Amino acid sequence: MSFLTVENVYKSYENNLVLERLNLTVEQGEFISMVGASGCGKSTFLNMLLGQESPSKGKITLENKILIQEPDENRGIVFQKYSVFPHLTVLNNVMIADEFTQAKWLGWSKGKTKKAIKHKAQNFIDAVGLTEAMNKYPHELSGGMQQRLAIAQALMKSPKILLLDEPFGALDPGIRADMHKLIHDLWRKNNLTIFMVTHDIKEGFSLGSRLWVFDKVRHDPQAPNAYGAQITFDLSLKTDDCKVNAKTTINNMGQK
Ligand SMILES: Nc1ncnc2c1ncn2[C@@H]1O[C@H](COP(=O)(O)OP(=O)(O)OP(=O)(O)O)[C@@H](O)[C@H]1O
Ligand SMILES: [Mg+2]
Repeated sequence: MSFLTVENVYKSYENNLVLERLNLTVEQGEFISMVGASGCGKSTFLNMLLGQESPSKGKITLENKILIQEPDENRGIVFQKYSVFPHLTVLNNVMIADEFTQAKWLGWSKGKTKKAIKHKAQNFIDAVGLTEAMNKYPHELSGGMQQRLAIAQALMKSPKILLLDEPFGALDPGIRADMHKLIHDLWRKNNLTIFMVTHDIKEGFSLGSRLWVFDKVRHDPQAPNAYGAQITFDLSLKTDDCKVNAKTTINNMGQK
């Protein structure tokens, strides 16, 4: 049984069919890059994986169980524009991810527990390169720093799945390269399964172990919302040979 399965999933909003006939299986530890035209349903798909939206038809299972339709700790998400808590410092923004969980079961943490949470948070803050900014507030950080804070916050819960919705879109090239290395290392170290939406096909190729292209193949000019996007290409990027083949496929697609 696969880690995640998507069986005949459709998603519509009222009479707007956004996604149709999605059938996919994903194994733990894959890094899936997702590309496609604006408005074709990539974020909608991530929202279904997160449990913020449910399929209109079909089902998604995670480790053999129907995905619960509310966010849980198995799934962390980082958006392009992430709203961290404005009134908390970097350190407290990261700590709070764990403190909420503790509070739910054991009451607000103090003493040893709090120290352990702080230690864990500091490690993630170091890992994303925010050590110097530990005591700053979000409004004092650049966009890239806020994004790194959001990643540290998501990782604090040790999620099995990380959902990245154009996480690096707003960053300048140098910082972007650093973030790529960071995400790649975190993926390898933590055996994460990552779904990343990107508009940068190069980024998709270099980071992913698999690439999905979302596209609308059926069109009815009389009824533009009658058909949804599907995954038209599902390409392995595991080896250099795979990447070369995938690039050829994408180039040919562009020439059609
Ligand atoms: N909550 C919602 N209610 C109604 N329609 C929605 C909702 N969320 C998304 N849609 C519609 O679904 C379609 C797909 O939107 P989505 O945000 O998933 O696209 P996307 O591929 O992520 O685009 P982009 O690349 O611009 O981020 C759009 O037509 C959008 O208007
Ligand atoms: Mg989107």
